[in-house]
Amino acid sequence: MSQLTDGFGRSFPYLRLSLTEACNFRCSYCLPDGYQADGRPQFLSVAEIERLVRAFATLGMHKIRLTGGEPSLRKDLDQIIETVARVPGIRKVAITTNGCLLPRRLPGWHRAGLTALNVSMDSLRRERFHAITGHDRLPEVLEGIAMAQQLGLQSIKLNAVLLRDRNDDELPDWMEFLRERPVSVRFIELMRTGDNRNYFERHHLNADVVINQLEAAGWHLRPRAADAGPAREFTHPDYRGSFGIIAPYSRDFCKGCNRLRVTAKGDLRLCLFGDFGVALRPLLQSDEDHDALLARITTQLGLKAAGHGLHQGLTGLTPHLASIGG
Ligand code: 5AD
Ligand code: SF4
Repeated sequence: MSQLTDGFGRSFPYLRLSLTEACNFRCSYCLPDGYQADGRPQFLSVAEIERLVRAFATLGMHKIRLTGGEPSLRKDLDQIIETVARVPGIRKVAITTNGCLLPRRLPGWHRAGLTALNVSMDSLRRERFHAITGHDRLPEVLEGIAMAQQLGLQSIKLNAVLLRDRNDDELPDWMEFLRERPVSVRFIELMRTGDNRNYFERHHLNADVVINQLEAAGWHLRPRAADAGPAREFTHPDYRGSFGIIAPYSRDFCKGCNRLRVTAKGDLRLCLFGDFGVALRPLLQSDEDHDALLARITTQLGLKAAGHGLHQGLTGLTPHLASIGG
């Protein structure tokens, strides 16, 4: 039984661990001017990551998602995956990536023990992908997804942020894409962060628009699995793939919360939009601090709030999602 539960009956079998704040893309809603390093940031080392994951696994966590920034910018990523996958209790090791390095790196990650892949892909059209991310890399991303299918990864998900006037007319293309591919496309409602307020006003699109189009085309909402996260899943008998809707502004979104986050510098963040983090790094320097680390994590969970303050315009500590990993 997991000890990772909060005061609202939610349990947290799933940790999102950011490996770096750096990113090589310039997504218009996230890092429009590119990543600007602040001094010489020191992100968690392999040894620190191992202690961290051992602690969470002791408390009942069984899935780790490696995020960024862009996690593939870590030169030691193969070693990180291998280390995490070997921790007793960890059954799933997933990564969220912008995908441009997949053709070169995915076989190594797979050998190291990667089980699931999420790729950010905001458009199926090359020029739009280029305009949104600042990089003309859609062909590599598509090649990487095909490779993931060939390698037989357990789960392949594609994330597309819904953007008014940028990619809001592509649903028919996505359906075609999913006809023969057993992958899940997740439409994510644009979230307002500290840095993207004007962009948010211009391009936020309510996910209900897409839900209505899906239902009109015969897609059905799947009953929510007990351990499912906040995505609402839609399937259709004629398609091998599925759609997921992630709508953080919808009512009850936070009820499905099943994840905790740790930043690339080792702060535990209870909510993407929370306004505090607690440093775990001081307790990651020696195996002797294992019990103190467990105590710090469980104490913090007792403080997790029922929901975020986005509806009140509160974005918390998060200037952009590269700083915390989506
Ligand atoms: N709103 C919604 N999604 C975002 N992402 C990054 N910033 C935002 C935002 N402000 C997405 C990325 C990636 C995932 C980790 O989070 O596109 O797919
Ligand atoms: Fe990089 Fe992801 Fe932010 Fe795009 S959304 S700039 S890929 S961290």
